[in-house]
Amino acid sequence: MPRVSAAFFATGVVCVLIGMLWGMHMGMTDDFTLAPAHAHLNLVGWVTMALYGTFYALTRGTMSVRLAWMNYFISLIGGITMIPALALYLSSNDSKFIPVMVVGEVLTVIGMLIFALAVFRELFRSRASD
Ligand code: HEM
Repeated sequence: MPRVSAAFFATGVVCVLIGMLWGMHMGMTDDFTLAPAHAHLNLVGWVTMALYGTFYALTRGTMSVRLAWMNYFISLIGGITMIPALALYLSSNDSKFIPVMVVGEVLTVIGMLIFALAVFRELFRSRASD
């Protein structure tokens, strides 16, 4: 597996472990205020990162390593910015967290756009057959 895929999976597994413990805590305290932040940590931090990592593992011979690492770091910074800002916003209802959340969201979208580039690059690359 290329290192970039391992980095995606390492980040994903840390996110889902935090997300699961967070979910258990919500259940134990019967307080679901932060459920959307828990959901986004798991879906953006675990599911999406694992899909990115899988794609780059499947295309290890043809991918652009530079594009893959850009995808990784932008998505990582996006997640680290967006999820805590969302949790702070939900728990305080203070709109000062919204601009920070938006920065994280924009970076998360840019991460996905870079991934889209990698996917279409793979689709249209020249092949000997098929
Ligand atoms: C130990 C593992 C987990 C526990 C204990 C847990 C617990 C919870 C709890 C208590 C809620 C709130 C339910 C409510 O509002 O009535 C919730 C919501 C949710 N969880 Fe988890 N969860 C876990 C793992 C995951 C994973 C792995 C994912 C996704 C990959 C996920 C995605 C979601 C989603 C999408 C919601 C709905 C959020 C919303 O309504 O805003 N959860 N979870």
